[in-house]
Amino acid sequence: MATSAARVHGEADRYQLSHVYPLGSRINERGHLEIGGCDSVELAAQFGTPAFIVAEEDLRARARAYREGLAARHHDSDVLFASKAFPCTAVYRLLAQEGLACDVASGGELALALAGGFDPARIYLHGNAKSEDELREALAAGVGHVVLDSTDDIRRLERVAAARASTQEVLLRVTPGIAGDTHAAISTGQADSKFGFSMAQARAAIDLVAACGHLRLVGLHCHIGSQLLELEPFTRAVAALATLGAFEVYNLGGGLGVAYLDSQQPPSVSAYLGALIDAARATLPGTPRLLVEPGRSLVANSTVTLYTVQTVKRNISTWVAVDGGMSDNLRPMLYGARYEAALANRMQRTGAGELCHVAGKHCESGDVIVRDVRLPDPRPGDLVVTPATGAYGHAMANNYNGVPRPPVIFCARGDARLVVRRETYADLMSRDV
Ligand code: LLP
Repeated sequence: MATSAARVHGEADRYQLSHVYPLGSRINERGHLEIGGCDSVELAAQFGTPAFIVAEEDLRARARAYREGLAARHHDSDVLFASKAFPCTAVYRLLAQEGLACDVASGGELALALAGGFDPARIYLHGNAKSEDELREALAAGVGHVVLDSTDDIRRLERVAAARASTQEVLLRVTPGIAGDTHAAISTGQADSKFGFSMAQARAAIDLVAACGHLRLVGLHCHIGSQLLELEPFTRAVAALATLGAFEVYNLGGGLGVAYLDSQQPPSVSAYLGALIDAARATLPGTPRLLVEPGRSLVANSTVTLYTVQTVKRNISTWVAVDGGMSDNLRPMLYGARYEAALANRMQRTGAGELCHVAGKHCESGDVIVRDVRLPDPRPGDLVVTPATGAYGHAMANNYNGVPRPPVIFCARGDARLVVRRETYADLMSRDV
């Protein structure tokens, strides 16, 4: 059961924010949640709700932890931002500034990454169903690496590269037959997967690429799943790759889990990188270049969502309904994902609070953002905050029920700036012809 995001600490009316909130967050003298030095009540008044509030320094700190942590352990290495987790140009720009490389999974993400300032040579194009247009766009942009996922993909890219009379560096995605403990919908390492080549098929695929005159196979890629809270499956995957021969590059994917709940303690970035590099040293031939591809663990905890309570209904349960829901956070609906929730405008309120469900505004009973959370006397007009919404929140936002998608606001040192504006009703009609 989700406990209150604010945990009693010391004196009875003092609450301390847990590690699910962005680094640098605090409760200010008015009892309001403060993100990046900005008072959440003022943010709500200025930008409206729902809104994604990003602590810029949190994003930078996590990017540095990855980059410095990997470089310190293995000189020839790179950290790729798995940009599907938070694809908006401001996030691409910030992570490009921090020196990361980038993973894109479609032509659209490629366009965003280029607009965000990533050097095309440091972009990796993924996808299990890339179209010929996407491959052409990638090669025209000068994308450094394409990650090949199927024999059709290999043949198609060979044709596209031949037509340009160019040679494309590629990696081959392998599905090592290792599944971590996560929701089935986000597990990708199992042998029967729509992604990559199984271990049984990988050798033939390696030979097929080798026979292509316009492709140069530099290495292997694997990504076994997402929101993994144990390190052992990652290290077993590295050992599986090692059985396929020696390569210049190994991309070990993403997947490190994060804390959504106060009670969760995922491995640190440092422990994760340590385990990967130890496994690579122990099993991979030679001294290859090593890549990691984090999405969620770079961006999830940088962000909170602010909502305004619209109604409180005391039925068998207490239903606190807010002005967003499955249009800005699909994860509870898709994966049964759980979040913390608190009242951002009364973070210091004492008492255990009332057991509530925080419900969205959509026309489905399943549109519940957080079940069984204690909130202190919730009332219409209160601000609900759900932390850890930076990954796959904005990314999977949608317009169900004609709800405009929320803005994204970057906060740092007390300054708030809008980086994605709220959608308008006109936007909802902008594609209608
Ligand atoms: N690399 C590849 C090839 C991937 O497919 C993914 C995620 C990543 C890296 C980054 O994984 P991460 O570090 O974020 O776990 N919508 C789902 C997550 C889908 C993940 C898809 N692939 C969710 O909200 O949980």
